[in-house]
This record gives sequence, structure tokens and C-alpha cells, in this order.
Amino acid sequence: MPKLYLVGAGPGDPGLLTCKAFQLLQRADVVVYDRLVSAEVLAVANPAATFIFAGKLQGEQERIQSEIHAHLLENAADGKVVVRLKGGDPMVFGRGAEEWAFLNSHGIDVELVPGISSALAVPALAGIPVTLRGVATSFAVIAGHRQNLEPQEWDRYRMVDTLVLLMAVENRAAIAANLLRAGRLPEEPVAFIERGATERERVVVATLGIVARGQVEVSAPAVFVVGQVVRMRRHLQRVVREAGVDALEAVYAGR
Ligand SMILES: C[S@@+](CC[C@H](N)C(=O)[O-])C[C@H]1O[C@@H](n2cnc3c(N)ncnc32)[C@H](O)[C@@H]1O
Repeated sequence: MPKLYLVGAGPGDPGLLTCKAFQLLQRADVVVYDRLVSAEVLAVANPAATFIFAGKLQGEQERIQSEIHAHLLENAADGKVVVRLKGGDPMVFGRGAEEWAFLNSHGIDVELVPGISSALAVPALAGIPVTLRGVATSFAVIAGHRQNLEPQEWDRYRMVDTLVLLMAVENRAAIAANLLRAGRLPEEPVAFIERGATERERVVVATLGIVARGQVEVSAPAVFVVGQVVRMRRHLQRVVREAGVDALEAVYAGR
């Protein structure tokens, strides 16, 4: 049975690829990659491979998705080592399950290689843990690109300690307003981490109220984090810079 590898590329830094992803990229004949896969990650792949860009523009997702399916079928059926490379983890807002099911239904075996999702790694690398003893014991990862931002849909996120919103840059003000309507507080800290895990990372810290008023400038791709854990950022930055990671325990103890 022909086979295809559905591989997570992590958030951008090639050092955050799994060993399995790295090895597969090195022996790939074909790499079909998404918009969010960084140039640095592609650079570790077999230079003799055929690289097929499968990024999607707003409004043409469905047409491009069927072209991607056709590329995957054609190349996997030829018996080549085909790597379908997706940013972060393929199963987190990556349509990985759809591609997997499609390929299976066409007689292609799929091996999944999970990746490090931007949802967890990007905040963490910026000094924001999604959970923190005594502060945050729950988190939710939410797609923020949906146009139908029904206010009642946001009620369920009122009690979740940390919210991690992906694809939320464009609708940030509406999302923040809906979260306020759902009962979250305007002074709650938030952070946007643009282009995390790359040398061009930029972090913007604000409050939910400021975002709801449309006063925060930020560009995609970014991870939008809402919750008290955002306050941890300055501790982690200062402590790591001045004393190294061993000193973190003192921060936790004295919090
Ligand atoms: C279609 S989702 C795919 C998520 C991906 N499968 C994952 O697990 O990270 C794309 C969104 O992920 C976030 N994202 C991915 N990589 C990022 C990065 N390096 N820095 C900031 N945000 C990132 C952004 O919110 C972006 O809009």
C-alpha cells in the first residue's frame, strides 16, 4: 500500500522539529508544505526533493484544498517518500484529519508525525506558561477566524483560566468585546505573540479592554493569549536573564 507522512513542522525554529520529522525531511522525495512552515525548517529537507507550496489565500481554501489532495495522491501513488508538512501540529486547526481520511479512502496509508503546536510553544517561548500552579489550572485553544462570532458562543470561555486564540488577529477587537460581554474583566492581561519561535518574534502586552477598544496594533501570524498567566512573562524574562532557569523555583514560591 502506498504511504504518505503527515508531519508537524513545529512553530518555526528547526530545532523544534521532532527527530522523526527531521529524518523524514532528510530523505523526502516530495515535500508539500503550508504557508506557516518556515524557510529555516524547509532548509533541513533533502535539497533534491521537489517542494510544492500548498498555502491558501482567503477565499480560495476549498479550491486549493482539492489541488493539494490531487498532488498528494499523485505523488504517494508513485511510491516516493512524500512528506505533507504542516505548521505546528497537523491535528490542531491544520485539516490534518481531513487529509488523512481522504488519503485512506483512496488507498494510501498515512503515518502521522505530531509536531509542537504554536498554541503551547509560542506562549511558552515568550515566557507565558498556559498553566501555573495556583493561578491557572485550565486552558482552551480556540479558533478566532470564524466570522459568525455569536456572543453566546463565548459564554463557555468565561470560566476557563487561560484562553489561547489562533487565527484571531483580524477579529481581535470583536473577540475581546465578546469575552467582556461573557463576563471576563477589562483589566485582564492579554498578550499577542507575533511570529513566535523565530528571530522576528514580537510580543505586545495589553488588557482585554484595550483590545476591545481596537487600540492594539498587531499582525498575523500571532498567538493571542488571555489570562493572568501573561503576568508571569516579566518574571520569567527577568529571572532567566539574570539568574538562569534554576531561579524559577524561587519565583513560583514567592508568587
Ligand atoms: C491554521 S492555524 C495552524 C496551527 C498549527 N497547526 C499549530 O499547531 O500551531 C494558524 C495559526 O497558528 C498560529 N501560529 C502558527 N505558527 C505561529 C508562530 N510561529 N507565531 C505565532 N503564531 C503562530 C497563528 O495564530 C496562526 O494564525
